[in-house]
Amino acid sequence: MLISQAMNQQVNAQIGNEFGASLQYVCIASYFDGVGLPVLAQHFFQQAEEERQHAMKFVRYALDAGGKVVIPAIPAPQSEFKSAEDAVSLALEWELTVTKQINALLERASSERDYVAHDFLEWFAREQLEEFSSMDTLLKMIRRAGESGLMLVENALGSGRALGSTNATPSGG
Ligand SMILES: [Fe+2]
Ligand SMILES: [Fe+2]
Repeated sequence: MLISQAMNQQVNAQIGNEFGASLQYVCIASYFDGVGLPVLAQHFFQQAEEERQHAMKFVRYALDAGGKVVIPAIPAPQSEFKSAEDAVSLALEWELTVTKQINALLERASSERDYVAHDFLEWFAREQLEEFSSMDTLLKMIRRAGESGLMLVENALGSGRALGSTNATPSGG
């Protein structure tokens, strides 16, 4: 097989991390839905779907490289939030954590001279730049608007011009 046992284990852990991010974003979306912010809710449901797709990319990679898929227990996501800022701050922390996890996978690929894995992982590194950047922008917009001004954030998100090309529209793209 192309994948080492250690890399296989780290990829399996990352499958859990990506599914964990997906569950966390479902909870953030649900919070926004509950407080009457449907565009933000839709945005996070879309993010949740993207995280699920990331998990599935790692599943496909492990299988293609001759590895074994073992999905770890996924910790329960946080489902209570004090505010929109609280919820999106948590999402930004998640993106920072995932970026470190992807970097650690890239470090393993380099140290093992697993250039196939390295090539596969570079896509995720680029994706993390985009996801960090759009989440950071969203958090700044929420802080600027304040809790009473969140409809402005809804309108900006709804216009599809707020967060760049891939995360801008409520339906995703
Ligand atoms: Fe992800
Ligand atoms: Fe992400």
